[in-house]
Amino acid sequence: MRRWLLRALTLVSAFALAACGAKGGVATVEGGTLHLSINQTAEHPMTVALKTMADNFSERTDGRWTLVIHPNEVLGAQREVIQLLQDDIVELAIVNGSQLENLNHDFRVFNLPFVFDDIDHQMAVVNNPEITKDLYSSLTGSNIEVIAAYTGGERSLYTKRGPINQPADLSGMKIRVQETDTNLRMIRQMSGSPTPMSYGEVYTALQAGVINGAENNEVSYVQQKHYEVAKQWSYTRHLIIPDYLIASHAMMQRFTPEDKAIFDELLAQSVTDEIKLWNDTTNEALETMKSAGVTITEPDADAFRKAIEPMINDSLTTDAQRELFEKTRALAGGK
Ligand code: GCU
Repeated sequence: MRRWLLRALTLVSAFALAACGAKGGVATVEGGTLHLSINQTAEHPMTVALKTMADNFSERTDGRWTLVIHPNEVLGAQREVIQLLQDDIVELAIVNGSQLENLNHDFRVFNLPFVFDDIDHQMAVVNNPEITKDLYSSLTGSNIEVIAAYTGGERSLYTKRGPINQPADLSGMKIRVQETDTNLRMIRQMSGSPTPMSYGEVYTALQAGVINGAENNEVSYVQQKHYEVAKQWSYTRHLIIPDYLIASHAMMQRFTPEDKAIFDELLAQSVTDEIKLWNDTTNEALETMKSAGVTITEPDADAFRKAIEPMINDSLTTDAQRELFEKTRALAGGK
């Protein structure tokens, strides 16, 4: 299925390029089909918000543009899709901050534990161009542009055995993490054994006992059905990592100014929509967890914070990172 889809997309993208016209030295396109990859279900808040955006974009451009959303990792895991986007085969993709950290370490600042106090703080920072402008355009040389940031909620731990009350309870447990040094170190600080793997592999790994637990938000835990195979949820709330909508930089240049203005307006709306959907979907997920018999506990938050905190300063290795961190913290508490 994936191979077939990718072959079709490669052909379409060659056609789209051939259809370009030149205006004032920049090759613009009047319309076409854009492909967006996301590793979440069709019901996930980001997928839903982006689907609304896709429908409105088509309507507002009189059907000249179509935005096709490919959910459920059908085009590949985030890491693979970044490559497709760099090659201009896929024009848009949702990727976690962790993936961008591997391409530019400055993204790490927004991926650190406790950097954001809550989702409101996160959103005030990650969509503030005064703070993010340079960071989000830092990968254009690799054809990647960050065009929006969405909340992926607060991440907590879930395990097959439990409860997890304090870091020592994770000793000897293999905990799946996203593939970055920051995530690996974070679990080590919590006394666990980090096991990096892609999102789509987690269910089977939990089921087979290859890992003893993982960490994520309530929505992913429920929509990916991880609660079926790991029934202990411990509210550590250690991370609030953003998800980014990344775009092919080349494609973003091909819009006419009029279409780009419509696209940007709908994009901003999708961020607002997603936050609302996020809160509703999280509440629904919590209800599902309770009715499915998940054991939900509030561990010793201070003990986890104390274990993790030493890595924060060490992780800020450049002036740019320290400056980003300070600007982020300056907006904490609604300041
Ligand atoms: C969340 C996040 C995804 C990420 C996933 C993961 O669901 O929104 O972008 O891929 O966690 O843990 O891999």
